[in-house]
Amino acid sequence: MPQLTRAVSRTQQAIDLEERYGAHNYHPLPVVLDSGKGAFVWDVEGKRYYDFLSAYSAVNQGHCHPRLVKVMQDQAGRMTLTSRAFYNSVLGEYERTVCELFGYDKMLPMNTGAEAVETAIKMARKWGYEKKGIPAGQAKVLVCEGNFHGRTISIVSMSTDPDSQGGFGPFTPGFEVVAYDDIPALEQALADPNVCAFLVEPIQGEKGVYTPADDYIPRAIAACKARKVLFIADEIQTGIARTGRLLCSVPDDERDPARRPDAVILAKALSGGMYPVSAVLASDAVMGVFTPGTHGSTYGGNPMGARIAMEALAIVKDEGLIQNAERLGELFRAEMRKLVEAYDFVKLVRGKGLLNALVIEARTTADGSPQTAWELCLLLRDNGLLAKPTHGDIIRFAPPLVITEEQLREACNIIALSVRQFA
Ligand SMILES: Cc1ncc(COP(=O)(O)O)c(C=O)c1O
Repeated sequence: MPQLTRAVSRTQQAIDLEERYGAHNYHPLPVVLDSGKGAFVWDVEGKRYYDFLSAYSAVNQGHCHPRLVKVMQDQAGRMTLTSRAFYNSVLGEYERTVCELFGYDKMLPMNTGAEAVETAIKMARKWGYEKKGIPAGQAKVLVCEGNFHGRTISIVSMSTDPDSQGGFGPFTPGFEVVAYDDIPALEQALADPNVCAFLVEPIQGEKGVYTPADDYIPRAIAACKARKVLFIADEIQTGIARTGRLLCSVPDDERDPARRPDAVILAKALSGGMYPVSAVLASDAVMGVFTPGTHGSTYGGNPMGARIAMEALAIVKDEGLIQNAERLGELFRAEMRKLVEAYDFVKLVRGKGLLNALVIEARTTADGSPQTAWELCLLLRDNGLLAKPTHGDIIRFAPPLVITEEQLREACNIIALSVRQFA
């Protein structure tokens, strides 16, 4: 008797395995990726897509950049990890590269974004006690409504998102939430002498690429300086050319410390998606609060990550990714504005450089099925473009910065087609 077998696609097999054995802490779009090159990724069935998420802006240099693959291979065969119990032959050169490029005296290397945020909070609190004279145990860090800085207990303690926070208490004290893009609210909170720092994203990526007024960040920097409060820019998502500048919070040629963040947090694209590498940058005076034994991480500053990060930053410069993000970002928003004009349910496009979002009106069809950003992302996927919905009505579009004009125009056509099918 012939055996009855049911063919299960490779896609379904991979999804089933993750569902069965993985914690359900994500809700991925149903597509199983297997390889990538530049602005493209391929799924296990061989179908090609434009990647318009770039691993949440980590793959700015494009997937599997050949220069990154090469340094990674070379360094893997030479030395990967020493711990900081010893010096290594790459770290100092890496630290100098980062400090000179971003205009800071010192950097502290970590691995993930959340760890670097934790590092910045520790630095700010210690600075508050030692340099500002805040009474022991009283330091406060101001954060913004709608913030996203990662997932550790202390970081979710300052979140205003019920999904991030719910069920995870007790929370770390010492955070105060102020409205985003609201200078009077910030000034009022800064009047508290126990405030040591203001931690802020120059654009709130996870909130849905919420983009503040152009003068918000410069005015917030000035307000913090006036009150001797550290301005800490979380540039984990916005930094390293993503918004058409090296850093979103300050023009590339601004070197006056009075107009620059006191500290900057970097991660994601610092390694071009090859490896977790993060860093906190600050002045000698601020970073000086760390002394041996007060902070660290086994992998932080390892030669592998350091070598990859140096190459990732060199690629940004050599390939003109800042200029590309700026120019193609303008083009992208112009194309999206045509959709806003043509379709009532497409509400607006916002963003800077190649970090943008389209806001739509979530609807239900006549038969009651939902028509949200998720369904539009499924259509985009079917048409060959991957993007991530957020909050039901927002789609973030953030392609690798190596995307060409021709590719971007083709991607815009895919978005236009999908919006038309969705209408
Ligand atoms: C602005 C911002 N800060 C911090 C993080 C956390 O980084 P990681 O996921 O590497 O811990 C993210 C991640 O999306 C982010 O966008």
